[in-house]
Amino acid sequence: KESILEADFDAIVAAGDRVEPRDWMPEGYRKTLVRQIAQHAHSEIIGMQPEGNWITRAPSLRRKAILLAKVQDEAGHGLYLYSACETLGVSRDELTRLLIAGKQKYSSIFNYPTLSYADVGTIGWLVDGAAICNQVPLCRTSFGPYGRAMIRICKEESFHQRQGYELLMTMMRGTDEQRAMVQESVDRFWWPALMMFGPPDEESPNTAQSMAWGIKRNTNDDLRQRFVDMTVPQAEALGVTLPDPDLRWNDERGHHDFGQPDWDEFMQVVKGNGPCNAQRLVHRRRAHEDGAWVREAATAFAAKASA
Ligand code: ACO
Repeated sequence: KESILEADFDAIVAAGDRVEPRDWMPEGYRKTLVRQIAQHAHSEIIGMQPEGNWITRAPSLRRKAILLAKVQDEAGHGLYLYSACETLGVSRDELTRLLIAGKQKYSSIFNYPTLSYADVGTIGWLVDGAAICNQVPLCRTSFGPYGRAMIRICKEESFHQRQGYELLMTMMRGTDEQRAMVQESVDRFWWPALMMFGPPDEESPNTAQSMAWGIKRNTNDDLRQRFVDMTVPQAEALGVTLPDPDLRWNDERGHHDFGQPDWDEFMQVVKGNGPCNAQRLVHRRRAHEDGAWVREAATAFAAKASA
């Protein structure tokens, strides 16, 4: 029976169709999805912190309303992704416990601090821009609940990217000091944004199998290249310089050549030694503990209502 079911699974993947939660799937496929979707969900939730840092200090009511909406969207993305992950037989509670125990990863990018308001714009432009590049192909991922969550998330991420770009454009039309703030922020975020796509393909242990299963649709390096090609003209329109002396158009390849991020720094951040790793986890743990009474009250209410 197992071999018939396995053949069905292979046929779904080969046809580019969706695998659904009740279909038979190899244990490795399930585990890979739980790993990737959980990391993705955690990234959305931890990603609320760097920008949340600026909500009380937004320069106008309009900027504050935009930033609040954006940070709330990230919470929503985390929740859709935890729900997608729950269809694979793990609970959100379990995933949260693994995150705050430091046993599951989240994106390296959120371990960098936000030092000026320009960072809100740069995160929208570069970080959400990189996220879109990585996530649009994931709308076609082979696991149904993940792909469907990605469709909605990508629509909202496009809004995030545009609000960031518009913020930076406004600052670039401002004073010399504001332009310098934007450039300084882009200088800090450019390389960490490139690291979001993961290690180079030859050092990526998961890519080949994830692509064979249709979980990933592109390699890390392909998506990084796509992001660079997409971002260079945007940087020109904005009037900022991307901090890479090796960045130039290559006519033969039809792509930009560019330098390599500091992969040792990437490894350190992934291992928990980035500038803000400890702070992010302490904050997340405290928020979870402070929210215990809400979970208890909701559970008690649900028990009463069903009795
Ligand atoms: N930050 C932290 N860890 C990373 C990163 C990163 N930027 N890139 C790779 N890693 C980890 C991988 O999780 C993996 O560790 P693990 O095996 O312990 O899980 C290891 O480094 C090796 O990398 P890969 O073999 O390339 O891993 P994978 O095939 O999972 O590819 C990638 C990594 C591209 C990030 C993939 O998981 C993915 O596309 N995830 C969905 C998108 C996502 O999570 N985005 C979050 C940030 S965007 C946002 O929230 C706004």
